[in-house]
Amino acid sequence: MNRPLLFTPWQLPSATLANRIMVSPMCMYSATDGLAGSFHRLHLGTLSQSGAGLLVVESTAVSPGGRISPNCLGLWNDAQETALARVIGDLRAHSPIRFGIQLSHSGRKGSRLVTMPSGSRALTEAEGAWQGVGPSAIAYSRRYPVPQELDLAGMRAIRGAFAAAARRAARAGFGAVELHGGHGYLLHAFRAPNSNRRTDGYGGDCANRNRFPREVAEAVRDALPPGCILGYRLNGEDWHPEGVTLEESIALAGDLRRVGVDYVTTSGGAGSPGISPPPVTPGYMAHFAAAVRNQTGIDSVAVGMILSGRQAEELLQDGCADAVAIGRGMLDDPRWAHHAAAQMGCELAALPQYAKSSSSNWPGYRIVHGTGA
Ligand SMILES: Cc1cc2nc3c(=O)[nH]c(=O)nc-3n(C[C@H](O)[C@H](O)[C@H](O)COP(=O)(O)O)c2cc1C
Repeated sequence: MNRPLLFTPWQLPSATLANRIMVSPMCMYSATDGLAGSFHRLHLGTLSQSGAGLLVVESTAVSPGGRISPNCLGLWNDAQETALARVIGDLRAHSPIRFGIQLSHSGRKGSRLVTMPSGSRALTEAEGAWQGVGPSAIAYSRRYPVPQELDLAGMRAIRGAFAAAARRAARAGFGAVELHGGHGYLLHAFRAPNSNRRTDGYGGDCANRNRFPREVAEAVRDALPPGCILGYRLNGEDWHPEGVTLEESIALAGDLRRVGVDYVTTSGGAGSPGISPPPVTPGYMAHFAAAVRNQTGIDSVAVGMILSGRQAEELLQDGCADAVAIGRGMLDDPRWAHHAAAQMGCELAALPQYAKSSSSNWPGYRIVHGTGA
């Protein structure tokens, strides 16, 4: 039997990954002063045994004002770099997975108190609220403060903060950096007409609105050493009449490819309130990935309700994507890729200490999923 495409190497311009499964970045809001600590060691240690080719660490702020909440990870100072380097260094000794990190700026959606599992509200002055920023002085909703419109010096500083954080990430041992350009955060806010009313060279038509995200990607590419993968997450479309369209996302993906971005993940939602998303059914955003892939040639990652290895394989075989990102499935089953492989009749290398549970030594998954015990 041929090895499923999902478990074949994924050759990107900058480097080759062992397979086409990525652990999607997921905010955990569990840091103090932006520092990775014992929770991150546990969480990332568990996910490092998933069998995926790439693990992208949660949205990590490039500056204090770029955090979503006071409990976000950060990567703007030496202590944060050292803490992440320690965690990643320890885990790399026990896992062949490539570690990536998602860098972000919250823009007009920051300064929140986030409580897990869900719920957030604006921070008060006494709790250390900070001033959000955006392309224009337009609040995300009535429950969010009005951001300060960025001037060119402010934009230059943020571009520099992304590049500096990327340099820190590479020094800390990450082999991939992903930029968070979706979900209503700063890079996305520049793209969407309902948050960007600028009249300078960064507002107006699609090329101008895509310009700041492209410049940030270019600055980060320049900051990274050769061989370091650069990815970019964007919203395929906003499901809002004044939001980003798929055509505009295709244009940005083409620009990103030209400045040396290796892959684009196409997500959706959270750009503004009042959106009309489609029903959240299996693979409901995969057509974004297909459009970006087929019209730009950039490596394309599908995300959103990809529930099984077989579903992922079908997306790849159909030419919709080059890889898949798995979010909640990985939290639910941190050995997701191993189990997907067993269900599809193949096996991934695992820790020698876990070898007794491999599909060739323990028939459990093969019996349950009928791939022959
Ligand atoms: C707890 C949680 C935190 C998330 N945080 C992030 C994040 O930091 N950055 C991001 O781009 N997406 C984030 N997402 C979105 C996921 O990466 C993913 O795109 C989404 O969950 C859909 O994929 P799934 O159906 O496989 O979970 C988060 C999702 C969850 C459930």
